[in-house]
Amino acid sequence: MREVQSALEGRGFYGSEHPVVRDAQERALPRLREVLEEEPSVMVARLGDRVVAQGERLASEGILRRGLFARMEAAGFETLTFDRGFGGAELAAVLDGLHAGEAAAGSDASGVRLGHLLGGGAERAEASEAEPKAAGPAAADPAALMRPVGRAFQSILRGRPVERGGLHRLVEQLGQAARVGAGALLPMRDLKRHDDYTFAHAINVGILACGLAGAAGLDEGTVRDVTIAGMLHDAGKERVPTSLLNKPGRLTGEEKSIVDGHPVAGAKLLMAAEGVPRLAAIVAWEHHMNADGSGYPRQPAGHRRHPASQIVQLADVFDALRTRRPYRAALPLAEVHAVLLAGRGGPYDAALVDLFLREVVGETLPAAAPAAEPAAAPRRAA
Ligand SMILES: [Fe+2]
Ligand SMILES: [Fe+2]
Repeated sequence: MREVQSALEGRGFYGSEHPVVRDAQERALPRLREVLEEEPSVMVARLGDRVVAQGERLASEGILRRGLFARMEAAGFETLTFDRGFGGAELAAVLDGLHAGEAAAGSDASGVRLGHLLGGGAERAEASEAEPKAAGPAAADPAALMRPVGRAFQSILRGRPVERGGLHRLVEQLGQAARVGAGALLPMRDLKRHDDYTFAHAINVGILACGLAGAAGLDEGTVRDVTIAGMLHDAGKERVPTSLLNKPGRLTGEEKSIVDGHPVAGAKLLMAAEGVPRLAAIVAWEHHMNADGSGYPRQPAGHRRHPASQIVQLADVFDALRTRRPYRAALPLAEVHAVLLAGRGGPYDAALVDLFLREVVGETLPAAAPAAEPAAAPRRAA
């Protein structure tokens, strides 16, 4: 990346055709291509003070932050992605754009692309559909991030086909962010500040399920489906009155049975929805069923829950407990750990809890979480 930066800075002194600039560019290629032998693509991203690739901070991040990434930031971008097989001319085109102050993200077909870690891509794609000139970047904008999920919910409720492109783009962004690692998913904290609990929860569960499915070694297509299933797991809550979902006190028996009906309602909605992976309906139905046979709806004798449901369940419990709800405070991270550990080998699969705490929670959530309030009334998780 130092060579890439030299090739950019050299343009200011010598122009893009000068041998000094060409040499710097040429020197950058072999190392990048070496990394790309292992991975189909590599994203280098700026996350606050850090410059990260492949889950690791780059040794020269200080220099890059002041140089290449400052130029990228001025143009509204924070990631630079290289695909296997990219050409020197594609790198040159991106650097020319940055140098001229006319940087564009580059088409998906280009092997070298500027972009956003989360949110910005969806925002831009949408803006360009409606109003081509207003395609300004908006990195990690929670509202933009949630829009495809909101639209999917609306389509599912109205019996319209779900627009797969938006969801897939979002999932791809989440997957890329997860691969960048080292806190790349921290924008999820911002979602907590957003008023709309439903979509914030949906995205968070999608992110966490994506991380856990990846850590469990599932293939890329399955990780994508599990992520979508995670985002849609509570679709059935759209059928439950908000007054019940947000009721501060204890639910009556009748109210509880309405709320507890959301897995079945969700499974029905998702089964009827076009454009949603079949897995989403299974996960919606099973996400409150426990490994020890408890939970709801009641499990048929000998029932074995789909692994995706187990993954989404942990993501769901984790996010629900970490979030303040009208009926209880947000729990501090240590307490959420304790809840999951207490359920290890009981309601939750032990190996999966270990994997989740070690690979997903350990990395993506900092200890500096929202302060807990004194424990309130009965604890309802999700
Ligand atoms: Fe639920
Ligand atoms: Fe949930």
